[in-house]
Amino acid sequence: QPTADLAGRHVVISAGGTREPLDPVRFLGNRSSGKQGYALARTAVARGARVTLVAANSELPDPAGADVVRVGTAVQMREAVLAAAADADAVVMAAAVADFRPAQYAEGKIKKRDGREPEPVALVRNPDILAEISADRARPGQVVVGFAAETDEVLANGRAKLARKGCDLLVVNEVGERKTFGSEENEAVVLGADGSETAVPHGPKESLADIVWDLVAPRLF
Ligand code: C5P
Repeated sequence: QPTADLAGRHVVISAGGTREPLDPVRFLGNRSSGKQGYALARTAVARGARVTLVAANSELPDPAGADVVRVGTAVQMREAVLAAAADADAVVMAAAVADFRPAQYAEGKIKKRDGREPEPVALVRNPDILAEISADRARPGQVVVGFAAETDEVLANGRAKLARKGCDLLVVNEVGERKTFGSEENEAVVLGADGSETAVPHGPKESLADIVWDLVAPRLF
C-alpha cells in the first residue's frame, strides 16, 4: 500500500513522442513508447495525486484515475502542458519532444517527380517546453522534472543539461542497445539542481517512477 504523499497535489506528466507532419500522410517522429510517462501517471495516482497526463501518440491504455489529454505535435503539447501547469504542484516532462519540425506543411501529399531530385526538407526549431516551464513557474515552488537520454559522458552531459534547462531534477538515461526505448525496464541517475545524485538500478519503469516521486515529494512547497 503506497503512502498518499501526493494527496491534494496536482501533477502534470507528459508522455510519448511528438509527430511533426510534413503532409497529410507523413511525419517526423521518434521511437518513444510512452511507457515511462504512463508509469509516472499510474504511480502518482496510487500516491493520491490528481494527475493530468499529456500524451503524444502513445498506444497505451489510459491510466485509471488520470485525466488524459491527447496531442500530436510539440506545439500542441506546449499548449496542453502550459494550460495544465497553471495550477500544478509538479510538472514532469517524460515525453520525447521533437526538437525540430518541418518549416512547411504541404496541404497535399508530396509527390515524387520523374527524373528529379527530391526537395530538401527545411526544419525550424520547436519551443523547448521544459526550459520555458522552468523559467516561468506558474506557481512559486512548482517542482519541474526533465528527462534526458545520453549515449556518452552521461553525468557531465546530464549536469550541463540540468543547468541549461533550469529544472529541479533531471532523470538521465543511458541509451544503447536494449536500453530504454520501448523497453519495460530502465536504468538511470537522477540529478538534482541542489547537487544531489541518485542512482536508480536497472528495473521496471514503475520503480523509477516511484523514485522520481520520492524525490519530488519533499521538494513540494
Ligand atoms: O534537449 P533534450 O531534448 O535532450 O531534453 C529532453 C528533455 O526536455 C525532456 O524532458 C523533454 O520532455 C524536454 N523537451 C521539451 N521540449 C523540447 C525538447 C525537449 O520540453 N522541444
